Amino acid sequence: MAALCRRAVVLFQTTKTLPYVLTAARKCSTAGTQYNYLIVDKRGENKNVGFIQLNRPKALNALCDGLMKEMNQALDAFENDAQVGAIIITGNEKSFAAGADIKEMQNRTFQECYGGNFLSHWNRVSTVRKPIIAAVNGFALGGGCELAMMCDIIYAGEKAQFGQPEILLGTVPGAGGTQRLTRAVGKSLAMEMVLTGDRISAKEAKESGLVSKIFPVEQLVEEALRCGEKIANNSKLVCAMAKEAVNAAFELTLTEGSRFEKRIFHATFATDDRKEGMTAFVEKRKANFKDN
Ligand code: CAA
Repeated sequence: MAALCRRAVVLFQTTKTLPYVLTAARKCSTAGTQYNYLIVDKRGENKNVGFIQLNRPKALNALCDGLMKEMNQALDAFENDAQVGAIIITGNEKSFAAGADIKEMQNRTFQECYGGNFLSHWNRVSTVRKPIIAAVNGFALGGGCELAMMCDIIYAGEKAQFGQPEILLGTVPGAGGTQRLTRAVGKSLAMEMVLTGDRISAKEAKESGLVSKIFPVEQLVEEALRCGEKIANNSKLVCAMAKEAVNAAFELTLTEGSRFEKRIFHATFATDDRKEGMTAFVEKRKANFKDN
């Protein structure tokens, strides 16, 4: 393990670009941060895509408290890393995430849940300003489906399964499932999934608008990375503005939302990147955005 860490540090020093060093070794991942439940890394040709892989395979990536705390740490680090322009969250081929950790929840009381505002720290995923892509292979159930829905884009492997099976445990979704699923797939399918606990396939998820694209299992992460690189090569500043505008559609009326969008559009004219983008078009060259 020590040798692996040393090798990773040498790689970091020689490339001079990687605060997040690639290593599959448990408890040896990023500069100064130890992860037990995640593999955290920067990927892409320009190392500008933050990569978070849930790494609790024996429990099908069940989202225990420790894992979600680490998720928040990794997201904070990428949010503050000027090099990173997009983030990918993925699991493994069998499971994206099989939900909140049922064994951890089994003996909790109402007083503990309400008093501690249980699951409130999961919201961090939905407040990140940089675009996040969920690359979902296998199970995305309960909190796993909710985690994917907190992301901005969902890509699915062709064997992915999505579901909100909380009803079978005598409870209801607690991390946005009833709200985000309903907005994504409409009332009838959301009701059916939440009330029966039945899962839907990747194909059904695509047909209903929950995911934007489906890929063969082994190509999924590569395709998510390709999408992440496309985003990260645009202006990070303007991408954050675009994300904010799209997300406003879930909160505002059409009139308010259109007004908000217009203000954001106007605001892009205060950026160097808007000027560079349009100048590059006119000069028939590729834009060189500086995130300014
Ligand atoms: N929490 C804790 N452990 C879990 C888990 C979960 N959500 N899902 C799977 N595991 C564990 C199993 O207990 C098992 O561990 P052991 O080997 O120690 O027994 C291991 O992962 C493998 O699971 P299975 O043997 O069950 O694997 P399978 O292939 O037969 O079935 C499955 C896979 C259909 C996903 C099944 O594991 C399952 O139904 N899991 C629970 C799914 C679920 O109900 N999720 C919702 C949780 S509640 C929630 O998320 C609330 C919220 O809104 C935030």
